[in-house]
Amino acid sequence: MPARTPPSVEPSRFRHLMARWPTGVSVVTTRENGHDRGLTVNAFLSVSLEPARLLVSIATDADAWPSIHRSGAFAVSVLAAHQRSVSQRFASRVPADEKFAGIDVHRGVTGAALLDGTLAIFECRVWQEIPVGDHVLVLGNVVALEEGADIPPLLFYRSGYAEAEPDGRVRLPRGSVPR
Ligand SMILES: Cc1cc2nc3c(=O)[nH]c(=O)nc-3n(C[C@H](O)[C@H](O)[C@H](O)COP(=O)(O)O)c2cc1C
Repeated sequence: MPARTPPSVEPSRFRHLMARWPTGVSVVTTRENGHDRGLTVNAFLSVSLEPARLLVSIATDADAWPSIHRSGAFAVSVLAAHQRSVSQRFASRVPADEKFAGIDVHRGVTGAALLDGTLAIFECRVWQEIPVGDHVLVLGNVVALEEGADIPPLLFYRSGYAEAEPDGRVRLPRGSVPR
């Protein structure tokens, strides 16, 4: 019998409060039968250093999910502050080809599209898939790493984008901090 969420925990309230957990922003990509797939992800976590393993939590209704499952591989590109439009593009529910149109990428050992200009890239082979409610935890064995430029990251806080400034200050989304 699946665990039921107590009525006091409304999904919208849960989401509202989870939004107070500031995160970075990444794009998860995979390639299946010559086609690139990708989506914006901030549920991204390192789970083991030795061996190097990480996880991403993917909505089971995401178009890219079946391709990640079938290809057995994915890459995580960590976005920089100047890549807000890339995040918005991969967060939109447009056909995959449209998502990648005009986005500069290069290829890695998994064949997945690796986004240019990002802070870091992790390429993975799927190790385990754990269905959890309306998402699936995809655990990956890290098989390749790429270090990008040391520039400010794109951040996500209270459902808005925050930007780290070159001087290290962080500009939070308008309205997210009481004036
Ligand atoms: C900042 C941000 C973070 C997101 N994080 C996740 C995530 O961790 N997992 C997920 O499944 N969707 C996440 N999404 C939503 C997907 O990017 C979005 O639903 C996308 O349209 C799915 O693409 P697809 O259905 O074309 O595969 C996020 C969206 C944004 C804007």
